[in-house]
Amino acid sequence: MTNPAALAQENETSRANRPPLLFALPKGRMADESLAFLERTGLTGPLDTNSRKLVLPNEDGSIGFVMAKPWDVPTYVEYGAADVGICGLDVLRESGRKVHEPLLLPFEYCRLSVAGPANRPDTPLRYASQPRIATKYPRLAQEFFRQRGVNAEVIGLSGSVELGPVLNLADLIVDIVETGSTLRANGLVEIRTILEVQAVLIVNRAAYQLKSREIQGIIERVRAVI
Ligand code: PRP
Repeated sequence: MTNPAALAQENETSRANRPPLLFALPKGRMADESLAFLERTGLTGPLDTNSRKLVLPNEDGSIGFVMAKPWDVPTYVEYGAADVGICGLDVLRESGRKVHEPLLLPFEYCRLSVAGPANRPDTPLRYASQPRIATKYPRLAQEFFRQRGVNAEVIGLSGSVELGPVLNLADLIVDIVETGSTLRANGLVEIRTILEVQAVLIVNRAAYQLKSREIQGIIERVRAVI
C-alpha cells in the first residue's frame, strides 16, 4: 500500500519539476491535427504521445502537454489544472465552461446539426408535438428547441447517435456532421445547422492575467501560423 506521506512528497516533487505552463490537448479524432498544428507554431517538436508519461514537455521544458479526453479539456482549463487548451467549439459550448477564447484555429471544421429520417425531411420539427432528440449535446439541443418553442424530449447518448432514429429511440438527432457520410449511411438527412464548429484555443482566465507574458507568447506563435 502507498504511504500517503510518501505520495504527497512525490506529488510535491512532480509539481516542482513540472513545466511552468500546462497545455491540454484532445485525444482521439482531433489529436493528430492539433499536434501537427502545434508543431507548425514551433511551440513543440513531435511529442511522444505513446509514452506512459502524463505530462510531455517540449524541448526547452517551458510547456508541458497533457493528452486529455476531449470533453475534459474545457474543465481542466476552467479550473486551472491546465493553463491553455485546444478543443472543438461544440465541446466548449456544450460544456458552458468559462474560459478565454483568444483564437479560432484552422482545423476540425464541421457543424452541429439537427438531422432526421430522409423520408420526412420537410416538416421535421412539427411532425411530432414532443419530438424525441438523441444527442451527445443535450444542453445545446435543449436550447435550440426551446428557443423555437418546441417542447423536445432530449435523450443523452455518448456516441453512435445516428442509431437513435434507426432503432426508433428518437425522431431526430443533434450531432456533428463533417462529410455527411454517416448520416447518408443511416438514411438520415441534415435539417438545420445549430453551430458552425472549428477548433479553438482556450486559456484559463487567471493564467491569462498571471502568466500573461508566457500566454501572449503562445498566442502570437499561434496567430502567426493562422
Ligand atoms: C462523429 C459524429 C458523427 C460522425 C460525423 O462521430 O458524431 O457520427 O463523426 O462525421 P461524417 O459526417 O464525416 O460522417 P465520431 O466518429 O466522433 O464517433 P461517435 O459517433 O462515437 O461520437
